[in-house]
Amino acid sequence: MKIIAVGNMKGGVGKTTTSIILADTLSAILDKRVLALDLDPQANLSWSLLGPSAFHSHAESSSMARWLEDAAAGQMPRLTGTLEDVGLWGGSERPKSERAVLKLAVASTRMRFGEMEFEGPSASDPSHRLTDQLQTSLREIRKNFDYCVMDCSPAFSALTRAALRLADAIVVPTPLNALCFESQEVFRTLGVRGMLKLSTEIFVVRTRVGAAMGRAEQNQIATRLIERQNDGLIRQLSPDFPETVDYMRAMNPPELGPHSTLKSKYGPRVDDLRAFAASLKKHGVVS
Ligand SMILES: Nc1ncnc2c1ncn2[C@@H]1O[C@H](COP(=O)(O)OP(=O)(O)O)[C@@H](O)[C@H]1O
Ligand SMILES: [Mg+2]
Repeated sequence: MKIIAVGNMKGGVGKTTTSIILADTLSAILDKRVLALDLDPQANLSWSLLGPSAFHSHAESSSMARWLEDAAAGQMPRLTGTLEDVGLWGGSERPKSERAVLKLAVASTRMRFGEMEFEGPSASDPSHRLTDQLQTSLREIRKNFDYCVMDCSPAFSALTRAALRLADAIVVPTPLNALCFESQEVFRTLGVRGMLKLSTEIFVVRTRVGAAMGRAEQNQIATRLIERQNDGLIRQLSPDFPETVDYMRAMNPPELGPHSTLKSKYGPRVDDLRAFAASLKKHGVVS
């Protein structure tokens, strides 16, 4: 099972949207067995994939919250048996075989408290214990999945650090504006390379492109990202994900639960997912 963490130390850059696009691309287009781990106590990924009713009925028994509480209590935490099946496709958009699945480890705001147990001064970072426990839990179920997509919170929290340490690839969604470019720089240099001392390959995906900001600023940031790429610091995935109402809609689940087809979920942007699948393969993120 290959692990992909989606992170950036800024809210609203499209981490959750990118996680969902990744999970859908891997499962529905590339026919992979995918585990989506919602590691953000804001639980947006869980809400989007489950739909409001199912989400609210899970809030109390959220699998990631229970996992964290067991881990904090020093018990052997388990993900087995707590994962929700959200891989529902219908009509002409069925995956190529019955093999593809999309399962979700549900989050809730309660996780914020479970996580505090693992936060402390960086000299003796207690989140190493959390990393070991998460690794053990994932090892237990790795035979059932080809990929694990982890949606991280914007804080460089204990769970985010654990996810980044375990990741085989790190995806950093970045809108093309100066503030978001800076947060990508800080996340990468001070966070991933600096504090965690990881050499994991970092892939930037350009999100919310064309949003209200000026074209000159976007071009300037695009140039700086290309410089980083030429210096071998990042690799850029394609396509750019434009700011459109289609993605906003895709993240808002219908009241009756997850969308039944990719087309009904993404509308005309479904071609972006096909291009994304090709780019993931080209860059070796997916085999
Ligand atoms: N390409 C896009 N086009 C339109 N809206 C988007 C796009 N990407 C993200 N959004 C919206 O922006 C908001 C923040 O995105 P989200 O993925 O939740 O960011 P993060 O997880 O980094 O906080 C959400 O309301 C989402 O629907
Ligand atoms: Mg999010």
